[in-house]
Amino acid sequence: MKLQTLQYRDEAFASNRLYIMQHPDFSATVVDPASADEVLDFLAEHDLNLAGILVTHHHADHTEGIPKLLELYPGCPVITGKGVERYVKQANHILNDNDVITVGDTEVRAMATSGHTVAHYAFLTNSGVLFSGDCLFRLGCGRLFEGSPDMLWTSLLRLRALPDNTLVCCGHDYVIDNARFSLQLMPEDPALVAAVQELVEIAPENRLPYLLGDDKRSNLFLRADDPEVMIAVRCQSSRDALAALRRMRDNWNRAERIVGAA
Ligand SMILES: [Fe+2]
Repeated sequence: MKLQTLQYRDEAFASNRLYIMQHPDFSATVVDPASADEVLDFLAEHDLNLAGILVTHHHADHTEGIPKLLELYPGCPVITGKGVERYVKQANHILNDNDVITVGDTEVRAMATSGHTVAHYAFLTNSGVLFSGDCLFRLGCGRLFEGSPDMLWTSLLRLRALPDNTLVCCGHDYVIDNARFSLQLMPEDPALVAAVQELVEIAPENRLPYLLGDDKRSNLFLRADDPEVMIAVRCQSSRDALAALRRMRDNWNRAERIVGAA
């Protein structure tokens, strides 16, 4: 499987990332298509059939491209986790937590990762690629739209337990805002400072995907059980620390007049 990372042309999806798995049998699987056009262009350019659509959660900026893709590929499997199909009516392959499905040459495992939405799934391939949707971002995590801090912390711990060399394909590129927010909170944290220094030198188009091991050390949201982080947000438990971090990040967004969907 060859992984492609694309950006959308529509300004409304500027932070979204489009991931396409290209299989050796001239087929491809797309993850969370916000828009169909970029997918269709890619398929035409590389002469590929559409093998499947993976859906992490129901938000429009992860699903709006599905109807048009199905018009052109009517038999295409639309794969998601239990609960998401209540919103995504086109879903026709519903996985339970830990179920494995094969797309092209790739096995994909569904991982229930509630928090951002109650029904949210990350997808882990047998080659160690993680599509984390809006649960885990580089130096950040998804906003709590539906779930509780407990749910999100459980999900982040589950993803954090994956090997360091897991390649994370997250739903949005909020890297720079997450870095600025985190540095304001912990300006002298060595791992965070080192990660941000490295990140600013990387071209924006190369910031995603990234290795989970890098984020385990520097992402404050993944470190909500780190005593230093708990002190910084004045909380006694990891769950409270995560809730405080997310609340502060939401307020920071408003203060910076940044409107984000996740
Ligand atoms: Fe979302």
